[in-house]
Amino acid sequence: MSLQFKRHRRLRQSASMRALVRETHVHVDDLIYPIFIAEGENIKREISSMPGIYNLSIDRLKEEMDEVQSLGIKSVLLFGIPLEKDECGTQAFHDHGIVQEGIRFIKKNYPEIVIIADTCLCEYTSHGHCGIVEEGRVLNDESLELLVKTAVSQAEAGADIIAPSNMMDGFVAAIRKGLDEAGYIDTPIMSYGVKYSSAFYGPFREAADSTPQFGDRKAYQMDPANRLEALREAESDAEEGADFMIVKPGMPYLDIVRDMKNTLKMPIVIYNVSGEYSMVKAAAQNGWIDEERIVMEMMVSMKRAGADLIMTYFAKDVARWLKEQ
Ligand code: PBG
Repeated sequence: MSLQFKRHRRLRQSASMRALVRETHVHVDDLIYPIFIAEGENIKREISSMPGIYNLSIDRLKEEMDEVQSLGIKSVLLFGIPLEKDECGTQAFHDHGIVQEGIRFIKKNYPEIVIIADTCLCEYTSHGHCGIVEEGRVLNDESLELLVKTAVSQAEAGADIIAPSNMMDGFVAAIRKGLDEAGYIDTPIMSYGVKYSSAFYGPFREAADSTPQFGDRKAYQMDPANRLEALREAESDAEEGADFMIVKPGMPYLDIVRDMKNTLKMPIVIYNVSGEYSMVKAAAQNGWIDEERIVMEMMVSMKRAGADLIMTYFAKDVARWLKEQ
């Protein structure tokens, strides 16, 4: 008598056979590389909790952008670090603000690269919150006005995509209207609509010098325990005109990525955030894990979960490893 079972190992028996049946692939076109542009001259300051990631002044951006371009990465996500901060984050929407100048530099010298501008106030406000603060509360509608100004000034400078990460209600509607009225009808919005209030942003706040000076972001970013809330957020952003949806952080939220992929009819972006990067780097530096294999497994997992695009500090490494393969 013969046993009744299925021979799944048939399709795993050789590298070539495995390649034939592989369902998910990571491609260099999937990658978006975040860059922190600092106001000042000759700055290349490594972020202590993010080895290999730097604050760069515009005069040092060339080295970075040459590398990005030669590796075949198609898109960068830009953050600005101004010298002066104030209550309203006015440097965020200054015509010659640091991010606007950075955008101009990249647009002029690397016209093929898709420039995504992170639209938020927290790197520019003295209190580190993502909007205007009154009596300890972040005001929603008043903050929207400044965010619209920021988005329009970024589009004017040459940003190809606006990525608002502030989590005020109605930010997609407000920014869409502002961009359209300023003539930027063709500038897409990549919404950070599904953004959780996460401890995984810790190292970023060192990188962008944007730690809130009081309180936390729980009254505007989402509760990590909630799934339906993400579906509600995404639904309104889709109605308001978002062109892409970002889920953030990445790895601990792959279930949410799958929900988005199953629900929305737009490209899904995952943000593999700073804390995820730092954890892998620290373990790798200790020789506890195989960095390349761990990172590539993370990338493929994010794609398998439903991400079309991956924002990651590992983008240059991944592009290099893909080339070597
Ligand atoms: C701005 C913003 C943050 C991140 C991206 N845009 C920080 C925050 O909300 O505190 C985090 C990115 C990362 O951790 O890599 N609001």
